[in-house]
Amino acid sequence: MTEIKACLFDMDGVIVDTARFHFKAWHRLADSLGIQFTEEDNEQLKGVSRVDSLEKILSWGNLMLNNTKKIELMDLKNKWYLEYVEEVNPSDMLPGVYEFLKELKAAGIRIGLGSSSKNSILILEKLGIYDLFDTIMDGNKIHMSKPHPEVFERGAAELGIPPEQIVVFEDAISGVDAALSGGFYCIGIGDSSVLSKAHAVVPDMKSMTIAKMVDLLH
Ligand code: BG6
Ligand code: MG
Repeated sequence: MTEIKACLFDMDGVIVDTARFHFKAWHRLADSLGIQFTEEDNEQLKGVSRVDSLEKILSWGNLMLNNTKKIELMDLKNKWYLEYVEEVNPSDMLPGVYEFLKELKAAGIRIGLGSSSKNSILILEKLGIYDLFDTIMDGNKIHMSKPHPEVFERGAAELGIPPEQIVVFEDAISGVDAALSGGFYCIGIGDSSVLSKAHAVVPDMKSMTIAKMVDLLH
């Protein structure tokens, strides 16, 4: 295995448990439209941009709406989401993440964010870890949502490190697909039956270390 020179982290569901707030806000919106969807359906929304998530929900409900209405619904979902994350603070960071980021920093392994969210800077600031990132690639900068690899490819380009020396940490099927099609190593965080395509899967970031990461990829 080649030397790992950088790690790219998805944010929602890997660094912080905001995935449940996205689900809660989409569920509330879908309810208001009379569209039902389950937590299992929600796996298909993880990692997917706001606009693509809305399109999927509308298609599940066979609902056709004009662009003005779609923008109104996305704004409403985001308003609710921002209310839910208002109280997010450093204690909401998922166990093991902070210690691992600090270990990477000390070892000179570069750290990047690869998130579909347009709210990523706000959340990283609330968590107090914005300054630990060498690059932030997010939904404000990219054109193609995961499973397209753009978010990770551009993160890698900003770091000046090739994908084969980078590990992506992902909790979403779309994110694992994005990492793999970009030629990155990928460690799935969550359910191994859902994220089975990743090079390795662990249930969470608890006790993640550089040694464990390298070991998982062997
Ligand atoms: C991803 C989440 O990180 O960001 C998705 O997994 C979310 O659930 C997407 O839809 C876009 O987020 P935002 O904050 O721009 O609406
Ligand atoms: Mg995620």
